[in-house]
Amino acid sequence: MYKLVTKEVLSDVSKKFEVEAPLVAKKAQPGQFIILRVDEQGERVPLTIADSDPERGTITIIFQEVGLTTKCLGQKEAGDYIADFVGPLGKPMEFPEEPGRVIAVGGGVGIAPVYPKVKGFHKAGMDVTSIIGARCKDLLILEDEMRAVSKELHVCTDDGSYGHHGFVSDILQKYLDDGEPIAEIIAVGPLPMMRAIVNQTRPYGVKTVVSLNPVMVDGTGMCGACRVTVGEETKFTCVDGPVFDGHQVDFDELVARSRMYLDQEKKALENCRC
Ligand code: FES
Repeated sequence: MYKLVTKEVLSDVSKKFEVEAPLVAKKAQPGQFIILRVDEQGERVPLTIADSDPERGTITIIFQEVGLTTKCLGQKEAGDYIADFVGPLGKPMEFPEEPGRVIAVGGGVGIAPVYPKVKGFHKAGMDVTSIIGARCKDLLILEDEMRAVSKELHVCTDDGSYGHHGFVSDILQKYLDDGEPIAEIIAVGPLPMMRAIVNQTRPYGVKTVVSLNPVMVDGTGMCGACRVTVGEETKFTCVDGPVFDGHQVDFDELVARSRMYLDQEKKALENCRC
């Protein structure tokens, strides 16, 4: 059993927990993730390691309540326990090979997986320009944390309730247009957002990496649940990713696979007793 040490409500739908998991905290690196189960009967859910503290032996996870498991998890309180917490899984993030500006783009709860990467760059002495966005101000998360590790931070809301009125892609376009070398763009968020960003950057030939979060079961490359086509090859997100070259990812297939279990998820939510 794993203890939930602290809980923070970031927005109506986003929660943050620190989980006591000293062995995971000892080895966790930016870009990696964990798989948890709330209880013995629960599904396995992958979540990015948003932060880790080897001294305290804790891992920070941030999630949006979008399905049964995340809804049940969101109702837990500090001091409660969950059944399983496995990690760190996946490959740690890599540093850009080319010189130039690094731009990190985070949309919605995708800001959570972007944050440890930007923090990792910041720790390594690299400057990162960050662009974060949400549907409205109340859904925006980790603004202060992102500001602390970014050279510049741009904030956008779809409804104009805070920051730039519009999409993260509007701000990104200005950097693409100004012609200054860009070493790498990191984009994490909902699939439509990541697809839009890679389509936007493709004509400029700027390396654009995305962090994927498909359905996972074992997290060790055995079951094939997390397969994704990258550059016409089948990859397993849990062991080959979760970060991939966005220009090589087959987003049509990924979106179709992400919708495969919508009916079952809906039924499970209707029968939710947590
Ligand atoms: Fe089973 Fe990746 S989760 S192969």
